[in-house]
Amino acid sequence: MSTKADLIVGLQWGDEGKGKIVDHMAQTHDYVCRFAGGHNAGHTIVINGKKYALHLIPSGVLNPNAKNIVGNGVVLSPKDFIIEMEQFDNLDGRLFLSDKAHVLLPYHALIDQARERMKGDKAIGTTGKGIGPAYGDKIARVGHRLGELLNPPKLTAKIMAFFEMNKPIFDAMKLDAPNESALLAELQGYKDVLGKYICDTTQLMWKIMDEDKKILLEGAQGTMLDIDHGTYPYVTSSTTVSAGACSGLGINPKDLGKVTGIAKAYCTRVGNGPFPSEDFGAEGDLLRKNGHEFGTTTGRPRRCGWFDAVAMRHAVRVNGVDQVSLMKLDVLDGFAEVKVCVAYEVEGKEINYVPYDLEEATPIYKSFAGWDKTEGVRDFDALPDTAKAYIEALEEMIGTKMGIISTSPEREDTIIR
Ligand code: GDP
Ligand code: IMO
Ligand code: MG
Repeated sequence: MSTKADLIVGLQWGDEGKGKIVDHMAQTHDYVCRFAGGHNAGHTIVINGKKYALHLIPSGVLNPNAKNIVGNGVVLSPKDFIIEMEQFDNLDGRLFLSDKAHVLLPYHALIDQARERMKGDKAIGTTGKGIGPAYGDKIARVGHRLGELLNPPKLTAKIMAFFEMNKPIFDAMKLDAPNESALLAELQGYKDVLGKYICDTTQLMWKIMDEDKKILLEGAQGTMLDIDHGTYPYVTSSTTVSAGACSGLGINPKDLGKVTGIAKAYCTRVGNGPFPSEDFGAEGDLLRKNGHEFGTTTGRPRRCGWFDAVAMRHAVRVNGVDQVSLMKLDVLDGFAEVKVCVAYEVEGKEINYVPYDLEEATPIYKSFAGWDKTEGVRDFDALPDTAKAYIEALEEMIGTKMGIISTSPEREDTIIR
């Protein structure tokens, strides 16, 4: 019998606070493994007032006893990975990169940005990091895997041939082919730094499971950004839900243990696309201000609104969530009333599920009495009664226990029930 891996997934449109909870749980896990996304993710962790922003390196890195695996489901920009590594002393023996993860190169970002420009007001509002083009190449079977980085001359020739074959398309985007010798030097530089970490992480996952290691799987983005289950086409290009942990690491569904879904006590979104419970007024502005809702990756202001219990029920079911970790409760401190979207109206009818086109949905709200202060509270019983009533009402609406409640960015300001 091998061990089961615990899983963390985002339940909204990303930025729920996954990084804080992964870091918290990493204290009791041996391995932390990323399974999807790329450096579009921005996971912030605050320890004793010091802030760390992680994009590709798993959020277990701040626990010196935890080892970190980047799985095959990730698209990895070697350039950005190397920059991120510079924050940490020595990751030898603590970092493993899948040879099957796909390489994201600077031209992917240029294609991403060109496509967004061409879309004009229909732009997705991507992070511009090249995520869509890198996953697109993977699915179209013209991508390059990290294992290929071990042979820079061969990979260079392959990329040059790819540019040659697609010249008309690149010309239309006004993208020049890379200079061959510069590309070779660039790839060689990546190999020199990252080569020693590249390995077969699928075999490693099986080995550590057989050794009964404690394993935590770290999701990126959120359920409503999932390529299949989110608000397509305003989504990212990967499987962000719990099923993605299996394909993104080479484990099977029976290997999954406890699923913790991360949700803010309200809701945010960056980029374009439907967001029924968005608040365009003064309260939305206050949520942004109090919650410091500006993107970790792009610095863009996040769109803010209220907890959407309908979308949350959808997320809980898609992911098989065992417990929810409710984040940023303190951001609602001082509001006289807090609203929750309890149903949608679509074409005059009330519905309680996520419809095909969420753009058509108008929120139906229920209001709850607010509270003065929850910031820094570490014990459920010490929360104001109205905050407790809010949490219990949410649990009732989504049919899932809120086993963790977070009351500040700090690692220790966390209620475990
Ligand atoms: P992730 O992408 O899901 O890891 O989330 P981000 O790191 O992008 O965004 C969450 C932000 O909220 C970060 O700046 C965290 O430091 C911060 N944060 C996390 N939990 C709490 C909390 O309970 N209260 C407050 N005020 N901030 C929090
Ligand atoms: P974390 O892991 C919030 C959004 C972008 C855009 C859409 C597509 O920090 O929660 P992409 O660059 O992926 O092609 O952009 O997805 N997006 C995120 N929003 N948090 C993230 O990650 C995100 N990663 C992508 O804003 O709307
Ligand atoms: Mg983030």
